[in-house]
Amino acid sequence: MKHLLSTENLSLFDAVRVLDTAEEMSAVGEREVKKLPALRGRTVVNLFFEDSTRTRISFEAAAKRLSADVINFAAKGSSVSKGESLKDTAQTLAAMGADAVVIRHWASGAPHRLAATDWIDAAVINAGDGTHEHPTQALLDAFTMRRHWSQVNGIESTGADLKGMRVAIAGDVLHSRVARSNVWLLKTLGAEVTLVAPPTLLPIGVEHWPCKVSYNLDETLEAGIDAMMMLRVQGERMNASFFPSTREYSRRWGFDDARLRMLDDLGMKDTIIMHPGPMNRGLEISSAAADSPRSTVLAQVRNGVSVRMAALYLLLSGDSREAAPNVSQSSKETN
Ligand code: NCD
Repeated sequence: MKHLLSTENLSLFDAVRVLDTAEEMSAVGEREVKKLPALRGRTVVNLFFEDSTRTRISFEAAAKRLSADVINFAAKGSSVSKGESLKDTAQTLAAMGADAVVIRHWASGAPHRLAATDWIDAAVINAGDGTHEHPTQALLDAFTMRRHWSQVNGIESTGADLKGMRVAIAGDVLHSRVARSNVWLLKTLGAEVTLVAPPTLLPIGVEHWPCKVSYNLDETLEAGIDAMMMLRVQGERMNASFFPSTREYSRRWGFDDARLRMLDDLGMKDTIIMHPGPMNRGLEISSAAADSPRSTVLAQVRNGVSVRMAALYLLLSGDSREAAPNVSQSSKETN
């Protein structure tokens, strides 16, 4: 694995390897000294052409915990806003000796372009491209689900997949790179996925995706689910009206207080509620749901650092076929 651009082409072997390595990394995060020397002397550039809070900070924390040097490059306030091309930016980063470029771009396919050219010889990690893919988000979601699913089934999470887990992903699928990356990865890991959305917020061709599609959230809940992932309504990507009103949206598609009670009434005591953030509280998710004990919103953020450490480690530490690091041994070196 030289780059991490999408989950569509990620094999089961590689997906499980990233998740298992992330388990090792998470053990480092629990220590007082949260640092490993693994990427000492390596340079990771965060190249963000689109706003981001948690993804950028998460990659920065991940790179620093592995002792890499981090350069944050936000397109706003840089020469990109003066019209510098992706090519010129990439060549500048190459001249600075970047070993990995974590790129978020409003154009679908930008990270693939960067990886396919000889502008720069760095590992490219897609941190979200347009409405296309967001592989590390899907991996951190899968990591969160796998921990939960293993606990419910009383098995060890390391090495496990998500066979039999029923996952519903609801909301603005049309504009969501999180939904796309999740559908592919969850399919590879053996979960059963149902997308739930109004017809106006489903992409053309969704019937060919490896999942079920429903227009009715209550019916999907009644059928039984183990994880409910709510998607943000992406107002900034909407150039038309996709639903009658926000009130109507939250009544039909939002995970509101009534639906939270429904999980209890239906006896689904182990069902978790997920959201990648940032949340529109009161629109796609109610505060009671977001803050309930079922919510994994903060666990997802925490797990994001471990998963991104794993991705950086596997891409940058030489032979990517190597086993996960011996955490206890390497952390001794740091002390
Ligand atoms: C997601 C994104 O940017 O695609 N957020 C994130 O990475 N935490 C989802 C979203 O913005 O709704």
